[in-house]
Amino acid sequence: MIMRSIWPISATRVSGELQIGGCQATSIAARYGTPIFVLDENDLKSRIEKWSGSFKTIFGENAGDVFYAAKAFISVEVAKMINQGGISLDVCTGGELAVARAAKFPGERIEMHGNNKSEAEIAAAIDYRVGTIVVDSLQEIDRVARIAHEKNRIQSVTLRLNPGVEAHTHEYIATAHEDVKFGFSIATGAAWDALLAATKHESLKVTGVHCHIGSQIFSSEAFSASAIRLLNFMARYKNEFGSELENLNIGGGVGIAYTKKDNPMSADDFLKTVKEVISSESAKLGLKVPRVSIEPGRALIGPSMVTLYRVGTTKEVQLEDGGKRLYVSVDGGMSDNIRTALYGAEYSAEIANRESSANLRDCRLVGKHCETGDIVINSIDLPSDIAPGDLIAVPATGAYGRSMASNYNHVPRPGVISVLDGTARTIVRSETESDLLALDVVESAVRLDDKSSGK
Ligand code: LLP
Repeated sequence: MIMRSIWPISATRVSGELQIGGCQATSIAARYGTPIFVLDENDLKSRIEKWSGSFKTIFGENAGDVFYAAKAFISVEVAKMINQGGISLDVCTGGELAVARAAKFPGERIEMHGNNKSEAEIAAAIDYRVGTIVVDSLQEIDRVARIAHEKNRIQSVTLRLNPGVEAHTHEYIATAHEDVKFGFSIATGAAWDALLAATKHESLKVTGVHCHIGSQIFSSEAFSASAIRLLNFMARYKNEFGSELENLNIGGGVGIAYTKKDNPMSADDFLKTVKEVISSESAKLGLKVPRVSIEPGRALIGPSMVTLYRVGTTKEVQLEDGGKRLYVSVDGGMSDNIRTALYGAEYSAEIANRESSANLRDCRLVGKHCETGDIVINSIDLPSDIAPGDLIAVPATGAYGRSMASNYNHVPRPGVISVLDGTARTIVRSETESDLLALDVVESAVRLDDKSSGK
């Protein structure tokens, strides 16, 4: 059954077969092969519209930017869709910035993140006139200041603060308790020291503060708590400097539904709650309501993509407790979706090429990699007549699927096609074995230093 909260808006069944963007699953597989990521273009566009519209309505004159977090998934075509949707872009490496440049994404609507940006990345960001660089260490403050000075520029920067808030999510994707690599802790005074350090540089303009408390979060409480801590920091700034910091960025992290058990917040509920907290806390502290920005990645693109796999083998395994488990192996796995192995993430799946009235049975959906942990879905009810050749669709793979893909076992990474009104087009080409082999070179050895040559 196509559950609306998990599947992209256009997903439906026609003559029993899954259709996305007006394209039949079997036609997609026949033309593009499997595995393949299928992007429902209308779904992404409507989510951009929803978030940006609600944000403007709810925050009104205090609405800053909705930055799409490129790490969730980025390609030149998707960067263009983000630009056309009128929202901004968060990049955190030179690579993500290069995609933005290739898409001619306006520099002033780009924000550059990263806890260890290289000098080349900082220089590239300044050259591209990015709107703001979010600084994350004392060394980086000096680095950005020096490079901006050398380029005769005044660079706007935002301080990445750690509000010390525990977000309820997997520990690897929670980012704002004290023992993490990100940000300057407010509680220990590191944040204030960073502010003093940054304001000393004439080539930097400190325009505000930022935090990101984690990812796949289902309640607005931790967002509100961290906004309050950042506002208190802004109030201290006002007391000591006599002026106010303009920007408050509360980061990304809003969760989405992967299975029917998940019950995420709606954009409206989330934004309204946070807006109320920010307004009342600002009034309490005698601050103007700041210009507020957010950085959703997963909430924008996660539900817009579906991964299409083909079943290669099925195997019934006898368990020690007398039970039996059906292993269903598909032609991808941890190389296109590492989230199950890494975070114990849960997904849903359906047979895509046909509907079946066979009884459901508990299956484990696994990949083709040489590793027991190569699991797409640990336990899922699928029709018991599932067989080699069937297509399997896994929804909600738009965020941190293709973007975290690897070539483990020398498996080429799947491409991404965009589907819309019965048409399909490649936006990221599937890799081939030749692409992988092209990186292997035969080179004669070169001497690297004079000492070893005895000179
Ligand atoms: N802003 C910053 C500074 C971030 O570090 C992140 C995500 C976001 C925004 C966007 O978060 P989102 O709205 O997409 O949750 N690979 C993990 C998620 C890691 C997220 C890292 N930072 C996963 O697959 O769940």
